[in-house]
Amino acid sequence: MNVAGVRTISLPKISDPRGSLSFLESNLHVPFVVRRAYWIYDVPGGEVRGGHAYRSLEEFFVALSGSFDVVLDDGRRKESVSLNRSYFGLYVPRMTWRHLENFSTNAVCLILASSHYQEDDYLRDYEQFLRDARS
Ligand code: TYD
Repeated sequence: MNVAGVRTISLPKISDPRGSLSFLESNLHVPFVVRRAYWIYDVPGGEVRGGHAYRSLEEFFVALSGSFDVVLDDGRRKESVSLNRSYFGLYVPRMTWRHLENFSTNAVCLILASSHYQEDDYLRDYEQFLRDARS
């Protein structure tokens, strides 16, 4: 990965004639203690989610259904990661600007987070993010 600290993580996939099952555990597959989960769905074609960074929050993305791209920026380098399998996760550390785009029809994005919701942890001004990320 080009962007600092970002990595994809393979999750267990247990398949038999009844179908497949995947799972994850805190501090094993997800490199933090999960304190919150939220999910993004019913995204109209062409819409973009995110467009911010967090001062301290770490997140872990899973495409439970469908596909989308996670576009990442650490203030120096940028990259786009396509998620389209429910047995892959994407770890995104603090101080990473991100947005989600190219949602397929019926895409469901699960996000696991290291903290409860805190609006004051958001960095929503890109220029401010760049100054903080590079300092
Ligand atoms: P936001 O994080 O801005 O969404 P996105 O990054 O996908 O564009 O959140 C959208 C709204 O949902 C905002 O009003 C805050 C609220 N929200 C919560 O109340 N709790 C949460 O855990 C999250 C992620 C958002």
